[in-house]
Parts: sequence; structure tokens; C-alpha cells
Amino acid sequence: MMTNNNIGCLIFTLLVMLRTRTTSIVAAGANEVMETDLIEFPLNLEYLEAEFFLWGALGYGLDKVAPNLTMGGPPPLGVRKAKLSPFIRDIVAQFAFQEVGHLRAIKEVVPGFPRPLLDLSASSFAKVMDHAFGRPLTPPFDPYANDLTFLLASYLIPYVGLTGYVGTSPKLNNTSSKKLVAGLLAVESAQDAVIRALLYQRALVRVAPYRITVAEFSTRMSELRNKLGKAGMKDEGLIVPLAMGAEGMISGNVIVGNETSTAYERTPEEILRIVYGGGDEHVPGGFFPNGGDGKIAKSLLS
Ligand SMILES: *[C@@H]1O[C@H](CO)[C@@H](O)[C@H](O)[C@H]1NC(C)=O
Ligand SMILES: *[C@@H]1O[C@H](CO)[C@@H](O)[C@H](O)[C@H]1NC(C)=O
Ligand SMILES: *[C@@H]1O[C@H](CO)[C@@H](O)[C@H](O)[C@H]1NC(C)=O
Ligand SMILES: *[C@@H]1O[C@H](CO)[C@@H](O)[C@H](O)[C@H]1NC(C)=O
Repeated sequence: MMTNNNIGCLIFTLLVMLRTRTTSIVAAGANEVMETDLIEFPLNLEYLEAEFFLWGALGYGLDKVAPNLTMGGPPPLGVRKAKLSPFIRDIVAQFAFQEVGHLRAIKEVVPGFPRPLLDLSASSFAKVMDHAFGRPLTPPFDPYANDLTFLLASYLIPYVGLTGYVGTSPKLNNTSSKKLVAGLLAVESAQDAVIRALLYQRALVRVAPYRITVAEFSTRMSELRNKLGKAGMKDEGLIVPLAMGAEGMISGNVIVGNETSTAYERTPEEILRIVYGGGDEHVPGGFFPNGGDGKIAKSLLS
């Protein structure tokens, strides 16, 4: 038979258990939400990269290669197989399958969200280029036309993801999230370096039919991203004024870096301003006609 004392003790123990449990759930919940959102956000860009590179190299995308990873999201608009040489096609196909791996890696850690609607049509890229040059290019820029235009369009992509991962890293507390982000950052940076090196090799080549050099394209695209991001200079072309090169000593700029040649960082807001094309994280457009998905992007949509 239980004495009053025993019952009191039991109730006290239950209350303590309940309280501890509640506190830990709340703490874990609050932390998990933030950490989960930060890890989920880059899925927006990884979906874009996966579709652009898969289609560009192979002529089909996630719906054929890994339909489950789309989680039922709509197919991308206007994306096509690019006219690529065997060498460039091989590299782009490698990037493409790496992006599929990235989608899986992220979804192993967080629940994720379906593929958002992506506009990867030639005209979507042409709009970015027209904006970058401040005048319409004629004929309109076509990323799918040849090696060079595909590489120039690719210049637009992994670098933005890379700066996002640099920005996310210091916000994370959980060791497994940090490891994931470091791993993604390493491969995105490597992709960006390969793209830039291939373009740097052609820096003085004039892109047909525009008579504009590859270097000039890179500078204009980087300037546009700096303008749209509204957070200062975080983007640099392939050839820069001496003062902007590594240690202020060299104007070749095959890899972007700040004054200590370490990577620039961008917040999710800055990234959305850029990929929505209009410099406003609240107004979808550009590559994401309906906006990005996940808590961070959705909470910013007006
Ligand atoms: C990491 O921990 C700090 C200090 O407790 C907290 O302010 C921050 O919100 C946490 N970050 C995430 C992503 O949960
Ligand atoms: C994809 O999802 C279906 C249905 O949930 C499942 O049966 C199948 O095993 C999954 N395939 C892969 C490769 O995960
Ligand atoms: C990090 O998160 C994972 C998955 O949510 C969890 O299993 C792990 O225990 C967490 N690690 C730390 C150090 O909080
Ligand atoms: C350059 O990177 C270093 C190391 O991350 C950082 O301390 C510094 O603030 C950065 N400078 C700029 C202008 O981003």
C-alpha cells in the first residue's frame, strides 16, 4: 500500500520527468527548426543545378534519373539538352550526378521539400544577360547553344550556392550539419573552380555572335549579382583591376576571394534577391517563378 509520502514522491518524480521532457523538447524543437531550415534552404539551388546540368548534358532530368528526389514537384520549364563537345558534356554530366548526390545528402539529414517550379528556359537566362549588360543582346543569349554559352550560364550557378554555404556554416551548432555543409561547400567550390578555369582559358575569346569577350561577360554577371545582392562586393569577374586580385598583386582572377583570398559569404536573403532576378527577396521571379520553398524562402514571400 502506498503512503501519502510515497504518492507525493511519485507525483514529484512525474512532474520532474514531465518538466525535463517538455524543456528538452522545446529546446531541441527550437534549435532543430532553425538548423533544419538552414540546411533545407540550399535544396532550392541544388534542384536548380541538378536539372540544369542533367538536362544540359543528357537531355533529361530528375524525373528520369531520380524521380523520388523531386517529391512530386513540377518539372522545370524550358530546360533543354545543350550542344556540347564530348569533353564539356562529360564534365557537365559529372556535375549533374554530383548534384543528385547533394539532394540525397541533404535529405538524409532533413525532411526536405518538393522541387520548386524552375524556369530554366533560354529566355530566363537571356533576361539575366540583358540585365547584366543593361541592353538587350541580339540575338538573345542562349545557354544551350554551345560550350561557351553553357559555361557562361554555369558561371551563374554553383558560385551562388557556394557563398550561401560559407554564410550558413558559422550559424550551425550541430556537428553533423557542419560536416554536411563543409562537404557540400567543398564540391560546389570545386565545380565553380572548374567552370571558371575553363572560362579563364578562353577569357579573351569573343563570344559569338556578340563580339563581347568571355572576361567582359564574367565581369558583367558578377557586377549584376553584387547589385542584386545589395550587400557590397561579393562577386568578381575573371580579370579584375590589380587591387582586387590576390594580395593586390595580380589581375588574373581564376578563383574569387576577398582581401585574404577567403570566400565571400551570402545570406539566404541575398541569394533570393539574386536568383529571383529583381533584387527583392519578397518578390519571386527569374529562375523561381513561384519563389523558393522551405521555411526561410516561404516566410519572405509577401
Ligand atoms: C546555435 O546556438 C546559439 C547559442 O545557443 C543560438 O543562438 C543559435 O540560434 C543556434 N543556432 C541554430 C542554427 O540553432
Ligand atoms: C521511390 O519511391 C517509391 C514509392 O515510395 C518506392 O517504392 C521506391 O523504392 C523508391 N525508390 C528509390 C530509388 O528510393
Ligand atoms: C544533430 O542532429 C542529428 C539529426 O537531427 C542528431 O541525430 C544529432 O544527435 C545532433 N547532434 C548534436 C551534436 O546535437
Ligand atoms: C574576408 O574573409 C575573412 C575570413 O573569413 C573575414 O574575416 C573578412 O571579414 C572578409 N572580408 C570581407 C570584405 O568579406
